[in-house]
Amino acid sequence: MNANSPSPRRFLPGAPLTGRIAVPGDKSISHRSLMFGALAVGRTTATGLLEGEDVMATAAALRAMGAGIERRDDGTWVIDGVGVGGLLQPETALDMGNSGTSTRLLMGLVASNGITATFIGDASLSKRPMGRVIEPLSRMGAAFTASPGANDSQTLPLTMRGAHPAVPIEYRLPVASAQVKSAVLLAGLNTPGVTTVIEPVATRDHTERMLTGFGADLTVEEVAGDRVIRIRGGVDLKPQDIVVPGDPSSAAFFVVAALLVPGSDLVVANVGLNPTRAALFDVLRAMGGSIDELDRREVGGEPVADLRVRHSGLTGIDVDPAVAPAMIDEFPVLFVAASVANGRTVTTGLDELRVKESDRLSAMAAALTAAGARVEEREDGLIIDGSGGEPLRGTADAITTHLDHRIAMAMAVAGLVSRDGVDVDDTAPIATSFPMFETLLAQARA
Ligand code: S3P
Repeated sequence: MNANSPSPRRFLPGAPLTGRIAVPGDKSISHRSLMFGALAVGRTTATGLLEGEDVMATAAALRAMGAGIERRDDGTWVIDGVGVGGLLQPETALDMGNSGTSTRLLMGLVASNGITATFIGDASLSKRPMGRVIEPLSRMGAAFTASPGANDSQTLPLTMRGAHPAVPIEYRLPVASAQVKSAVLLAGLNTPGVTTVIEPVATRDHTERMLTGFGADLTVEEVAGDRVIRIRGGVDLKPQDIVVPGDPSSAAFFVVAALLVPGSDLVVANVGLNPTRAALFDVLRAMGGSIDELDRREVGGEPVADLRVRHSGLTGIDVDPAVAPAMIDEFPVLFVAASVANGRTVTTGLDELRVKESDRLSAMAAALTAAGARVEEREDGLIIDGSGGEPLRGTADAITTHLDHRIAMAMAVAGLVSRDGVDVDDTAPIATSFPMFETLLAQARA
């Protein structure tokens, strides 16, 4: 496990990134494929599923609650659902590993089933706030208890008893979070009547798109600038054959690396470009990045393209905080791009980055500063004065990833644009979302 066997690595400058790579399946869509398949009546299949540790934690938990989930030799995943309301009581604690998405969405699923489940996780996940789902799910009737020995009732380990029947609520999201939105909507699947979520700021909409595909009675309406999502409970889900598009959040590391390393000309194939996810590419273009979309198409109901990325001189910008939800996982690697751009990049409105797999504002400020970048940490963002295209100095001591895959990958990219290389204390967490990262990096630089 990550915590037991850290895997340190030094990332060095060198060859440009060229040729063509394809990134693995989208993490958000992969979790949802397994969860919705597990609730359908009959057999769902998924191809292109991300086989990272986070998604495997979701699979194991769903199996423990009665779903059949198997991988065929050809790579297709087969999910035999239990039907809405059919989850069984798990016999042991559900180990969520490092995955906030697994935890919060599965809590939503359990909340309206008459079963009790205990959720545990690694050191990073056990620090992350669960109050944001405990609050609405409690209103729906679920009961939460901190495990004996826990020093906090808002963090894992937690035991929850689902409500049957649960009570439908109307919930206005206090934080822009697709996980909280999804938790309430998933609880609504088995709740009599109509459960409503109001989103003042749009977040990734995979739950709405996919549940509609599975036949849920779900509507989305714009009302005075809010997104109002309603779901009627007690409707059966129909099994689907899902093709999972590539993950833009994984593509991001290769797109930035190709922009920054001189001589690069790389095609990153099969990149999901759902507008609620793809803002990084627009921001990088606004900074001067050469990113062309080839063969725009639709995969599994999502817009997808191959991205051709060529080395480009970048200029710092003020990033509009309104686009933050559509690139919330991409800031660590954007900060790397900003560190070698011309001029100043200012980011604001990023309080949520402090409660990700690590506090990404402080972790990236510390790591980039250690690598020679000029970074000022503010309460809700970073201000970065770029090197004007010069390589970063590199690190003397290993930077700390805090069990955060995206810190590890972002600093790997920083190593490629450093003079002396960047030491990363632990690359093991990369396996949570992108097990093939180093293999693909070697392939692109060969
Ligand atoms: C996710 C939502 C986001 C994102 C996470 C995946 C999802 O989290 O950071 O990686 O699949 O719903 P928040 O809901 O906490 O913003």
